[in-house]
Amino acid sequence: MPRKLLVTNALPYANGDIHLGHLVGYIQADIWVRYQRMRGNTVHYVCADDTHGTPIMLRAEKEGISPEALIARVHGEHLRDFTDFGVAFDNYHSTHSDENRAYAEDIYGRLQAAGMIDTRAIEQYYDPVKQMFLPDRFIKGECPKCGAADQYGDNCEVCGAAYAPTELKNPYSAVSGAKPELRTSEHFFFRLSDERAVAFLREWTRGTNEAGARRLQPEAANKMREWLGEVDENKLSDWDISRDAPYFGFEIPGAPGKYFYVWLDAPIGYLASFRNLVERRGGIDLESYTDAARAGEAGTEMVHFIGKDILYFHALFWPAMLHFAGYRTPSQLAVNGFLTVDGAKMSKSRGTFITARSYVTQGLNPEWLRYYFASKSNGTMEDVDLNLDDMIAKVNSDLVGKFVNIASRCAGFIGKRFDGKLGETDAAAVAEFRAALEAGTIARAYEERDFGRALREIMRLADIANQYVNDHKPWELARQDGQDAALHTVCTTALTQFRDLALYLKPVLPALAAQVEAFLRVAPLEWPLEWAPLPAGHAIAGYKHLMTRIERKQVDALLEANRESLAPAAADAKAASSQQRHAEKQQHEAQAAETAMPHISIDDFVKVDLRVARIVAAEHVEGADKLIRLSLDIGETENGQARTRQVFAGIKSAYDPAALVGRLTVMVANLAPRKMKFGLSEGMVLAASDESGANAGLYILSPDSGATPGMRVK
Ligand code: 2FM
Ligand code: ZN
Repeated sequence: MPRKLLVTNALPYANGDIHLGHLVGYIQADIWVRYQRMRGNTVHYVCADDTHGTPIMLRAEKEGISPEALIARVHGEHLRDFTDFGVAFDNYHSTHSDENRAYAEDIYGRLQAAGMIDTRAIEQYYDPVKQMFLPDRFIKGECPKCGAADQYGDNCEVCGAAYAPTELKNPYSAVSGAKPELRTSEHFFFRLSDERAVAFLREWTRGTNEAGARRLQPEAANKMREWLGEVDENKLSDWDISRDAPYFGFEIPGAPGKYFYVWLDAPIGYLASFRNLVERRGGIDLESYTDAARAGEAGTEMVHFIGKDILYFHALFWPAMLHFAGYRTPSQLAVNGFLTVDGAKMSKSRGTFITARSYVTQGLNPEWLRYYFASKSNGTMEDVDLNLDDMIAKVNSDLVGKFVNIASRCAGFIGKRFDGKLGETDAAAVAEFRAALEAGTIARAYEERDFGRALREIMRLADIANQYVNDHKPWELARQDGQDAALHTVCTTALTQFRDLALYLKPVLPALAAQVEAFLRVAPLEWPLEWAPLPAGHAIAGYKHLMTRIERKQVDALLEANRESLAPAAADAKAASSQQRHAEKQQHEAQAAETAMPHISIDDFVKVDLRVARIVAAEHVEGADKLIRLSLDIGETENGQARTRQVFAGIKSAYDPAALVGRLTVMVANLAPRKMKFGLSEGMVLAASDESGANAGLYILSPDSGATPGMRVK
């Protein structure tokens, strides 16, 4: 019986960019969804933006716009990024929606009726200037353990200690800078420690779903056992589900000034997005997916793809909330690990905190990343490492060198020699190729989300197909008289094998597969294929190159772009302290003043001959406090010899000469030479500095990679 799957991805917050760390889980889910659809199963694949909470409220305020305007803008950006990476949701909705409010109120009302909601007064830090209670992340102070300054209210980034915000020394509000006060207020709690909830969760963790499969990966089930403790223990605490105004979210019915905490309505957003889809599309029996009483009746399943950082919310709170509200609990959690880049945490200073947007605008092919992430995914919670050199090698060797190579070596002959029409197939060769594939191996790997195993198997087949071409050498047959029929057969056989490989790769590489379908002029590939060779006489389209190789310089440019573009965003992500914000403001004002210079015409500007220069030597200047002597190559020659320019640059306070050698920068090449005490200076290098002094330092300019000495800058 075909399966009916409701598949979701974790909802990204509506105040940040999608980055490659996010994409691991989205790409995994999308591959699985595409695979399920190719197998004839019904899939509704939904997601939404997670729009509520204090950070979003404050971010909007900082931008001077309403939270609604902020979330509308980010919604567009997120959807565009997912679409660019081939992540094709059926619906991309918002938690700030009517459907979500209705579900949140309904679930909350039922939990209240089931006696699962408590109220309790709690003491919390309050910002008397901003007049709001402060989430832990918005309180800073000195670490109670190591004394480090400016640490967050929940943990210390210096010594790693975890603590309560009330333990911080000299706390201050990261929003206004004010000293926070402890104040009491009434909060609502979901009674997770209730023995009914504990018993339910023990059972849920152990049990299997309606389809007889396990709900949790073994590592996730272990985590759950750790959280739940021994049978006679109760380690769970009640969960604080309310926040006081001002808060961007849904007001709790019957409790003016109290709002649902963002994490209460976030997962409910899965249901809201699905309902919105059902209402727009019609013909879907919504309750057969969501109603506990109908679980299993119609072969429906609900599968959540999430990152391991939010397992606690999805494996404890979420199923318990659903269960006690009479809703269907998740059939399965598919949990992925974190992304590391070159073996380390993503880092803004190294440029490895790579946004989806920058990847696309730098011209890298999203399917390279889909392929690489898939090759590193094995269905477990292990972290995925994006090793950039390995990605380049794997994509170039597997996709370009093996897969595309089959078509590029054979298709031309079909076009040139056989009028674009295919011939007979070598029955023995295709039989051997098909026999090499143990039935169901690739399918099983896809089903288990072990995409790495699926791709290894597919590449083993690609090797067989390439070996066939190597053995029969169509390029030699083409030069021999009387070998036309053999040439025709070899090329047709190889293209049939190529078609089969495209089918297996299609969940991972939908865009490439679509190009192959267009090139071979075949209907969208389905799984299983009613297998038959490509028929003799079938006309294919002219071959166009299907995929280019990745060059290291493209990856370097990507790192460079993220190093630069993310510096201000990094400051944004952490709530800036009032001192920081004060300094920033001063700096902006100073820069605004500096930029208010009289206009010049373009003719004035082109008088300045700016050139890309390579620093070939750099050294200290005896007797000069500020100067470094630079030898600059701008592509000039003299009597057939390369000639360098000598420039004395006042950058000694900021640069060690040794670190400058080899760098590219920009120089003014037509500045009149100036005789100095130390020698002739034949130009000037460009450097930025902040004359107001708010941000001391000197920054020499660098062109993007690819620029060469002597290029004109204009
Ligand atoms: O951790 C996060 O990014 C959350 N916005 C995920 C929410 S997933 C679901 F519960 F909505
Ligand atoms: Zn510390």
